[in-house]
Formats: sequence, C-alpha cells, structure tokens
Amino acid sequence: MADPNETTGTTRRRFLVGAAGLAAGSVADARAESAKNLPPNVPDWTRQPGEGVGLRPYGNPSKYEKDVVRRTVPWLTATPESSVSFTPLHQLDGIITPNGLCFERHHGGIAEIDPADCRLMLHGLVDRPLVFTLNELKRLPRVNKIYFLECAANSGMEWRGAQLNGCQYTHGMVHCVEYTGVLLKVLLEQAGLKPSAKWIMAEGADAAAMNRSIPLSKALDDCIVAYRMNGEMLRPEQGYPVRLVVPGWEGNVWVKWLRRLKIGDQPWFTREETSKYTDLLESGKARKFTFVMDAKSVITSPSPQAPVKQKGFNVISGLAWSGRGKIRRVDVSLDGGRNWRTARIDGLVLEKACVRFYYEFDWNGEELLLQSRAMDETGYVQPSKDALRKIRGVNSIYHNNGIQTWAIKPDGEVENVEVG
Ligand code: MTE
Ligand code: CO
Repeated sequence: MADPNETTGTTRRRFLVGAAGLAAGSVADARAESAKNLPPNVPDWTRQPGEGVGLRPYGNPSKYEKDVVRRTVPWLTATPESSVSFTPLHQLDGIITPNGLCFERHHGGIAEIDPADCRLMLHGLVDRPLVFTLNELKRLPRVNKIYFLECAANSGMEWRGAQLNGCQYTHGMVHCVEYTGVLLKVLLEQAGLKPSAKWIMAEGADAAAMNRSIPLSKALDDCIVAYRMNGEMLRPEQGYPVRLVVPGWEGNVWVKWLRRLKIGDQPWFTREETSKYTDLLESGKARKFTFVMDAKSVITSPSPQAPVKQKGFNVISGLAWSGRGKIRRVDVSLDGGRNWRTARIDGLVLEKACVRFYYEFDWNGEELLLQSRAMDETGYVQPSKDALRKIRGVNSIYHNNGIQTWAIKPDGEVENVEVG
C-alpha cells in the first residue's frame, strides 16, 4: 500500500525502534538528555524566564508540533496550481479545524486579492443589478454558522480498493469551521428576483474562474456569503476575502474568491458540472447535480498515521458528518462489521457540521478490524463499500461515503484494508 509521505514513515520507524527496545546510541543519548527535565529535577524551562510578550504578533503552534501539517500526494495531480493538500485529521480532535490546517483544493492556484478591489456582482434575472464592496457586505446583518466542507472527491481514490495509508489521504478533504457572513438570501432580496428566476451561477475571481450552477431554492435557504472563518478573515487558500458557503453540499459549489452571482432560469452546465463532478455509473450513464454529501464517518485515531502505542486502555476517536442534517448516532466495530457498539458523541451536534465521537476499550494486542458507521437524522445509514459499489460501480471518483476499515496489527501498526 502506498505510503505517500516521508515524514509519516520516519515517525513510524522511530516508534517501531522504540517499541522493539532496539534503542540506538543516539536515541539513548536523547533520553538521558531529556531525563534531566523530568521529576524530581527542576526542568530547564523553570530555571529561567521565557520569551517575553510581543515577539509573536501572530502566534504559531509549539515547535514540537511541526509535524502537524497539511500534506500532498504528489502523484495525484500534475501541477501544484490544480491540486489538493489534505487536512491532518489523525492529529486533530474536537470538531473545529484550525485555519492553517484546512485542506485546500484549487483549480487555478490561490488568487491573492486586495480587499479594496474586492467586488461582488449580482446580475441576471433581478430588478436591480448590484455590486457590493467588502465593506458593504460587512455592513449587512451577520450570521455565524459551523459547517463541514467536504470535496466530492474525498475518498475518491478508494473506489477500486484500499489505496492510501492514512486517514489524512483517504478522508482529509474535509474541514469544519465557523463562518461569519451575510445570508445570500439578504443579497438576493436587495436585488429583487424576477418571477422566472430559478438558478444562480456563482463564479470565482481566480485564474480558473471556477463557476457552478446552484438551484435558487438552496440559495434562498441557508447559503452564506462568508468573509470570516473561526473569527478571523478567510485565509487566501480558503477564498479571501469572500467565498460562498453551501451547507451540506459538495465542496466544489463553495466558490472561493467569489466575484459574480448571476441569476437565471436554468443551469449553465459548466465544465465543473458536466465533464467533472458528475458520477459515471456502470451503465455508462452519469448522475448529474449530485450536490448533497451523504452521511459519512472515519476513525481518525488509531489510523495508519496514528498507530496504537500501548496495550490496555485506548481511546478510539473519529469524525462523522451528514449533508442532510444532524448526525443521530455513530457505531463502532472492532471486528470488521460483525458486531457494532454505539460510540459516545462528545461536544456540539449541529446540522451539516462534523461531530466528534469516541469509543474507549481495552486492547490486549489481538488483531482488530476497526470500522465506524454514521447515521443521520433522516434515518440514512452509511453504507459498506461493497453496497455502494453495487449501485454506483467503480467508475466513479466522487461521493464515496463507504465504511472505512483499519486493520490493527499485534505491534500496534495500522493498515488501510477492506473486508469482504
Ligand atoms: N472556488 C474557486 N474559485 N476555485 C476553485 O478551484 N475549488 C473548489 C471549491 N471552490 C475551487 C473553488 C473545490 S473542488 C473544493 S473541494 C473547495 O473549494 C475546497 O475548499 P477549500 O480549499 O477551502 O478546502
Ligand atoms: Co473539491
């Protein structure tokens, strides 16, 4: 199985060396060095004052966390301008993704937009075409909402079998943040919709000028024209200064660097909703406008990049989400889906947002096949990969929400596998 990342490999080897008791000289030295900071000794950081305030005007994580980063899979795309970096899900907890770790997916690179030159046009089947500046958008009534964003291609490499060894790569095209912005409905009301208005086209100001058609009913429901994430302004990678938030729907319609909203009476059938982001079935027919992201879950730890470190008490931790509303329940299996137990959800349970689940258990060193299965408030149950393939075939790239299996080996290593 491909391990696309060097850093991960190194970490795992270091763990194995330690676990097998084959401590090399340098490892032993490092231990002796660090023991001087352990009880009953007074550690270095207590012997003298630390760095004063003001030297870190914008804070970064501890230097010991430098391994917690977005990663790429080099062979997935030909150019970095049209590529993806993945959220390190195995290194995070709770439901909020830190801004600097949100996966990025661009079709034409990151547009660096001067906020003074940011304009949002609204035209087409409206009574009054409008152009908003960023400040004008900020003066309108605000909403704050936590939503997940999942790329339709998340887990797309796994349709034909287990491929990538790490939940960062198999499931890391998802993030969940709090957005601040104005409801799209408010802008549409200001422009005044013509009676024939049925669809809306959102277009980005990036080099890809990425555009998608969205039914007006969704635009009037819960879409947000957002300019903040987790309190601060959007990051350039996430569409600074303005992006469209389309709760529960595939990431591709969440147009970043938003510059134009055109109102029409039918969809535009853009590139991203014809040759891409349609789902080719076994019959040769393709499903189009598969907007909603169905319920899905993944165990983030243990997972291939986060092996089990000790026998005895262990915490299984994972994420679940549904584009159709709230997650109602998450089940965990230790034996490849033969027996299921209800996981404990901790923290907020919000519509179209991630939830965090845990399952605590004692590990005696036996091989396990870990799975999780999400259920949402509509009663929908996350399917097995085989059940999904029966309906969808294996030609698809998009909308793979099948149940993931991690094999736990006796040495604590974890592998991406499939059970028959
Ligand atoms: N918007 C523009 N303008 N250009 C893009 O390339 N990529 C889309 C969408 N919006 C894209 C875009 C895709 S495919 C996804 S999955 C999401 O943005 C990714 O959002 P993120 O980079 O904030 O994770
Ligand atoms: Co995408």
